[in-house]
Amino acid sequence: MNYKSIILPFILFSILVISHLSCSEEPASTSRPGIIPLPAEMSANGERFRIKASTRIVLESEETGMINIAGQLEQLIGKTAGIHYGLSSNSLRNAFIFEKDTSMANEESYQLLIEKEGVYIRYKHPRGAFFAVQTIRQLLPPGVEGKDRIKGRGLILPGFEIHDQPRFPYRGMHLDVARHFFPVEFIKRYIDLLALYKFNHFHWHLTEDQGWRIEIKAYPELTNTGAWRKQTLVGHYRDQPHRFDGQRYGGYYTQEEIREVVQYASDRYITVIPEIEMPGHSLAALASYPWLGCFPEKGYEVATTWGVFEDVFCPREETFEFLENVLLEVMELFPSSYIHIGGDECPKTSWNKCSHCQQLIRDLRLNDEHELQSYFITRMEKFLNAHGRNIIGWDEILEGGLAPNATVMSWRGVQGGIEAARMGHQAIMTPVSHCYFDYYQSKDSLEPLAIGGFLPVERVYEYEPIPEELEEAQRRLILGVQGNVWTEYMKTPDQVEYMVLPRMPALSEVAWTPADLRDFSSFQERLHNHRTRYDILNLNYSKHIFETTNPISRHGNE
Ligand code: ACM
Ligand code: ZN
Repeated sequence: MNYKSIILPFILFSILVISHLSCSEEPASTSRPGIIPLPAEMSANGERFRIKASTRIVLESEETGMINIAGQLEQLIGKTAGIHYGLSSNSLRNAFIFEKDTSMANEESYQLLIEKEGVYIRYKHPRGAFFAVQTIRQLLPPGVEGKDRIKGRGLILPGFEIHDQPRFPYRGMHLDVARHFFPVEFIKRYIDLLALYKFNHFHWHLTEDQGWRIEIKAYPELTNTGAWRKQTLVGHYRDQPHRFDGQRYGGYYTQEEIREVVQYASDRYITVIPEIEMPGHSLAALASYPWLGCFPEKGYEVATTWGVFEDVFCPREETFEFLENVLLEVMELFPSSYIHIGGDECPKTSWNKCSHCQQLIRDLRLNDEHELQSYFITRMEKFLNAHGRNIIGWDEILEGGLAPNATVMSWRGVQGGIEAARMGHQAIMTPVSHCYFDYYQSKDSLEPLAIGGFLPVERVYEYEPIPEELEEAQRRLILGVQGNVWTEYMKTPDQVEYMVLPRMPALSEVAWTPADLRDFSSFQERLHNHRTRYDILNLNYSKHIFETTNPISRHGNE
C-alpha cells in the first residue's frame, strides 16, 4: 500500500492545529506500545511524528461522522497541548490525513501509517477511522488523558504501520442498572471505556425484579412505583438472617436521557442494545401493574433481595398488549436491530398453579410450561420481527423450542451457544466461566464483597470463544463475546470500574485480536500504559495484576 501516492480529490475540510506548543512528552515505549486490543498487524518503522504548532488534521471527505472523529482527535491532542482548531487551508505535510478507501474489506478495519512527514489513516467507514483514533490515542503518552498541559517540546507519535480489523463482529459489554442504579454521567464514562477498547455493543440491562429503569410514557407506574424499592439487602445473600438497610432506593432514566445515551454511544460507534426482561425477572413491573402477574391479589412488591423470584409475567392477552406497547416505545428510543428480551431464570411455579396458564397450555396443545415459555418468546419475536427487529435471549430460550430467528446469548456455559449454532442460529458467548465480571478476581481476603465465583483476569484473557465442537459453517454463527456486569454487589460507579478493569481490556483482546497473537505476558506489559491512564482519569481498577510477576493461579478453586 502506498499512502503517500494518494491524490486527495478535494479537501473539504481541514482543521488547523495551532498551539502555544510549549509542551512535549515522549511516548511511554516505542518498541512495545501499549495498544489494547493488540492490532491484527503492526510493525515499527523507526520513524516518529512530532505534533507541532503547524500540525493539521485533514479530512478527505466531509462524510457524516468524520468531522466528529476529527474533532475527537483534535481534542485528544489539543486539550493537553493548549491547541485549538479552526478551518484552515489545505496541508499535506505534518498532518493527520484521513483517507477513505472503499476497497477495504471490513467496515471496522483501518490502516494507520505514522511517519515523520505525516500520519495517514485509511478507512472504509467512519467507524474504522474512529478505531484508528483510539489506536492513536493509545500511542500518545498517557498524559493526553489529563486536563493539564504536558510539559516539554511537543507530542511525539512513534512510527508504525498498522493494518487492523476485529476478529469478531460482536464485541459487547453489559451493565445491570437495576440491582443498582447508575447515573447518566457514569453510563457515559462506561461507554468511554468501551470505546477505548473498541467494543461495539453496550447491552443495557434496564428492567429487573429490583427495579424498572426506563420511562415508558404509556405506563407511568413502571417508574412511579417500579423504579423504587423500599429497602435493600445488606451483606451477602447467603448471610442469614437477611438484614436490610431500611432505605428507599431507586431511580430511572427519562426518555430524554435514554436518547442522550444512545446518541453518545452512537458518536462512538457503539450500538446500545436494550434489555427488557420477560417472562421472568419482572417483579418490578408486576408491582406497578399487578394484573401482569398470575396472582394479582398477592400484592407484589419491588424486590429488596437478590436471586430468582417465582412471580413472573402471566401470558394473558393483556400482558402481551402491555409488552408490545412497552416495546413500541423502546424501539422508538433504540435504533438497534437487536432487542434483548431476557428469557433467563423464569421459574414455572406460578404458571403451574395458575388456571389461566394451565388452560392456555391445553388450548395451545403444549406439552408443558417450558413450551409455554417458548410460545411467549416466539410471540414476542414475531412482534419485533414485524417491526424489523431481531431478538436476543439468554440461553434458556432454547428450552421448549427456540424462536425461529432468535440469537442466543450463551451464559450458563458454552453449550447454549453450541446448540444454537448447530440449529443454524447466531450466538454470542458470555459464559460464567470467562465473562462474568461480577465474580471475584482475586482470592485476597480484603477483596470487596462479590457474588462469588473466581474469574482472574488471566482466565478472561485465555478464553477461546469458538467451541471446538462446531463445524466450520457453524463457527461463523458465533458472533462474538460479551462481558457481563451484574450489580447486586456493586453499589457505586467506583465498584463497577474496579470489577471491569482490567478484565474488560482483557476481553477486548479476545474479541478483537487474532487468536494466535494473544499472549498474556505481552498484555500484562501493555497494561502498564493503561494503568497510568486510569490514574489520570481517576478510574478505579483492580491492582492484583500489577502486584505480581507471576499472576494469579489460573486454576483457582471455586
Ligand atoms: C443471567 O446471568 N441470569 C443471564
Ligand atoms: Zn398465569
